[in-house]
Amino acid sequence: MTRRRTAILISGRGSNMEALIQAARDPSFPAEIALVLSNRPGAGGLDKASQAGVPTAVVDHRSHPDRDGFEAAMQAQLQAHGVEFVCLAGFMRILTAGFIARWEDRLINIHPSLLPAFRGLRTHERALAEGVRIHGCTVHYVVPELDAGPIIAQAAVPVLDDDTAETLGARVLQAEHALYPFGLSLAAGGRARREGQRVRVAGGKPQPALVSPLLD
Ligand code: GRF
Repeated sequence: MTRRRTAILISGRGSNMEALIQAARDPSFPAEIALVLSNRPGAGGLDKASQAGVPTAVVDHRSHPDRDGFEAAMQAQLQAHGVEFVCLAGFMRILTAGFIARWEDRLINIHPSLLPAFRGLRTHERALAEGVRIHGCTVHYVVPELDAGPIIAQAAVPVLDDDTAETLGARVLQAEHALYPFGLSLAAGGRARREGQRVRVAGGKPQPALVSPLLD
């Protein structure tokens, strides 16, 4: 099996990055983490990646006058490390259509909601404000429209009556750490196949519904 050389793009603490690095330690995982790239020199994830023995690079968006220059510098890093597949994990820069086209079908993201609900920021706060009973996270291909790409995998968590944005966010984050490695393995391992806005996953099985609330 060929393992696809994968870069993780981060801007912050990198807990999803850690989950991906951990999963890719298994030699049968279809991706190997070849690079962690941050647009912020102070991102906490950089130290964690180095400690895990993964090469890191910083392309600081502030040292580039425009988006094209910033992305060209990122592209140079990706090429220099022989990267074939890219995961965004808390990467807080908007990518241009040109960059996304270059990585078409090889660029995925994790978003902390059940898309297409709650695109954008502050998803947990907004889920509470809307009173949803089930919330969650989504791994999807990246397209130029924000948080709108074909969905590879989703995980749902219940919303509890006494949840705050923090407690709900922590429950979703835990689900993210399981879902992102799974989504990457589907996409990099060739089990997920894009068909327009839908993704077909070979070998998917039905399962019982998650109902929320759950009573004693
Ligand atoms: C996660 O909630 C992810 O879904 C969102 O940004 C957050 C990044 O957290 N895109 P971390 O840096 O992976 O801990």
